[in-house]
Amino acid sequence: MTTGFGRAEQLPVAAPGSLDAIAIDQAAISAEIHAHAVDYQRSGREQLAPTLDYPPYRSTVLRHPTHAPYPADPELLELFAPVFGHQDVDPLEADLTIQHSGQPMGERIVVTGRVTDGEGRPVAHQLVEVWQANASGRYIHQRDQHPAPLDPNFTGMGRCLTDGEGRYRFTTIRPGPYPWKNHHNAWRPAHIHFSLFGTEFTQRLVTQMYFPGDPLFALDPILQSIPDLRARDRLVAAYDHTITQHEWCTGYRWDIVLTGGARTWIEPAE
Ligand SMILES: [Fe+2]
Repeated sequence: MTTGFGRAEQLPVAAPGSLDAIAIDQAAISAEIHAHAVDYQRSGREQLAPTLDYPPYRSTVLRHPTHAPYPADPELLELFAPVFGHQDVDPLEADLTIQHSGQPMGERIVVTGRVTDGEGRPVAHQLVEVWQANASGRYIHQRDQHPAPLDPNFTGMGRCLTDGEGRYRFTTIRPGPYPWKNHHNAWRPAHIHFSLFGTEFTQRLVTQMYFPGDPLFALDPILQSIPDLRARDRLVAAYDHTITQHEWCTGYRWDIVLTGGARTWIEPAE
């Protein structure tokens, strides 16, 4: 299983130039976000992917790609890249609430949906991995030391295979928002990181799922780096009462579309 936590913005850690960044308040960042949104509206163009060099998201200034992706030979890479076998994925790994001796704290949820191509065809038997903060917004990671409690009954990682119809399903705990050091009093909206493995390691896709109605959306330079509102909305799950279970959990539906004009935005490979 991949361990996640591969991208610095996922953790409340110091970004490049953080001594300067911490002196910048949310109002200044929000003004920058607004200015970029106005420029986008005026441009009349459609951009479904994030702006890679997006100054409100401070670390992108130094970390965004400045060259075209380096072409790698997939066959050569597969000789030493991670592999997995379908028999290695236990169905119990899709339940993040049963990995320890007790129940984790927080709101139990089921997140489910379909992985499809742009024509609605299912992506079957696909390895889907998730990682997330606990209900308090804390990751189990040495670089996450903000004062929120760890939960001894929650690790925050799970995986499953899609079924023949492309359906995935996780039982987990609704993650909390967490602070990060992009600027003073910066908080990420609650989210779950998703990885789709593809059939080879070179096809791995990574993105984030958000929860509907989060008041932090407008303040978050990571989400707002996607200028198109419809593309941002495609990263937001829908509450679905047909998934909610009596006296057990609430339910969310989030479909992942890999191709076509309504595709889910996927983080570019680094
Ligand atoms: Fe995160």
